[in-house]
Amino acid sequence: MNMRTRVGIIGAGPAGLLLSLLLAADGIDSVVLENRSREEIESTIRAGVLEQGTVDLMEELGLGERMQREGAIHHGIELRFDGEGHRIDFSTLTNGRGITLYAQHEVVKDCVAERLKQGGPIFFNVKDVHLYNVASDQPSIQFVHEDETIELQCDFIAGCDGFHGVARSSIPEAKQKIFTRSYPFGWLGILMQAPPSSKELIYAYHERGFALVSTRSPTLQRMYIQCDPLDAIENWSDAMILEELQARLESKDNWQLKVGPVSQKSILAMRSFVIEPMQYGRLFLAGDAAHIVPPTGAKGLNLAANDIRHLAHALTLYYKRNETDLLEAYSKTCLRRVWRAEHFSWWMTSMLHRFPDDDAFQQRMQRAQLEYTVSSQAASASLAENYVGLPFGW
Ligand code: APR
Ligand code: PHB
Repeated sequence: MNMRTRVGIIGAGPAGLLLSLLLAADGIDSVVLENRSREEIESTIRAGVLEQGTVDLMEELGLGERMQREGAIHHGIELRFDGEGHRIDFSTLTNGRGITLYAQHEVVKDCVAERLKQGGPIFFNVKDVHLYNVASDQPSIQFVHEDETIELQCDFIAGCDGFHGVARSSIPEAKQKIFTRSYPFGWLGILMQAPPSSKELIYAYHERGFALVSTRSPTLQRMYIQCDPLDAIENWSDAMILEELQARLESKDNWQLKVGPVSQKSILAMRSFVIEPMQYGRLFLAGDAAHIVPPTGAKGLNLAANDIRHLAHALTLYYKRNETDLLEAYSKTCLRRVWRAEHFSWWMTSMLHRFPDDDAFQQRMQRAQLEYTVSSQAASASLAENYVGLPFGW
């Protein structure tokens, strides 16, 4: 079977879905292809911190209602070390800005529901996705859906298929440069059925390793501890995880972690990755397909949203006025923010984790950085402005 669309979008993560919605708002048709089921993408636990720019984008698309009702606005975070908490006050340091806690799979649910209401199309459970002629004016995507092979002719292809997707491999090796860093630790993440232990997120530096207290709702909390990236989750009983959390979050005041049943646990790897450029011919990469940050700076989803805003704008100008300047500038425009976020995420990660080979000198460096960050207005403002997100177009 043959089909035609203007923009063929591979991947129904936040990047692919937001792109299809922004294009639809400008009257540009697209087709989204996703290799997992709707149920799976709507239930996979990922990040949960939205910068104001990402919140604004959801609102512009008419998707703000549930996010406003169920999300929580935070005006600061706590950095905890040596048993003491230090608040980084975003409101004061960034002119009233803050972040919204709203889980990524809730963003995905809202986007899927809206796009399907508009008539889609989103093809779920596709297989054998192949890209053809991406360097020409007539690129196409071949895929299998319900045992039928479909040939989708496009004007453009958006590779929004995440880090493990197929789109990136259509860029010839000679035309790309890859930058990577893997970290010698992972994060063990859990969901806990308990009330919040703190009004704001706690990032803890401890000699046993990093710990993070985040939240999902008044009854469900998200927490992480640094662990060996090669460890198996089966090696961690709920009691062991709780013990580590409590030890790493120790506090000189009377603060106590509120505990309850653990409902989900997994280990994730930590890496930094960037491909340059983010475009080849008529193929444009966006989100995790083009770059990965370690989760310490909470930037992954927000970078994806930023790429998509630029891409949708560039495609709109192409279709409305036949202008190609923004399409040609896409990679360069996005990479500036990508590298800022790469640096911020690497910096937060380096400051807050125990490295297996660290020595007394490196630990003193971390402590000096932590003390400076929480006591200097300039240093805490730098953390705050990066955390809440630099303005769109920065
Ligand atoms: N064909 C079709 N779909 C694919 C393929 C493929 N070959 N490979 C992967 N996908 C789908 C995945 O199943 C996933 O649903 O592409 C989607 C990519 O979504 P994400 O991985 O969520 O990536 P992205 O949309 O860029 O979102 C940004 O922010 O918080 C971070 O890493 C986190 O996922 C998050 C990201
Ligand atoms: C999360 O809530 O999942 C979360 C919060 C902050 C981070 C990373 C993840 O830095």
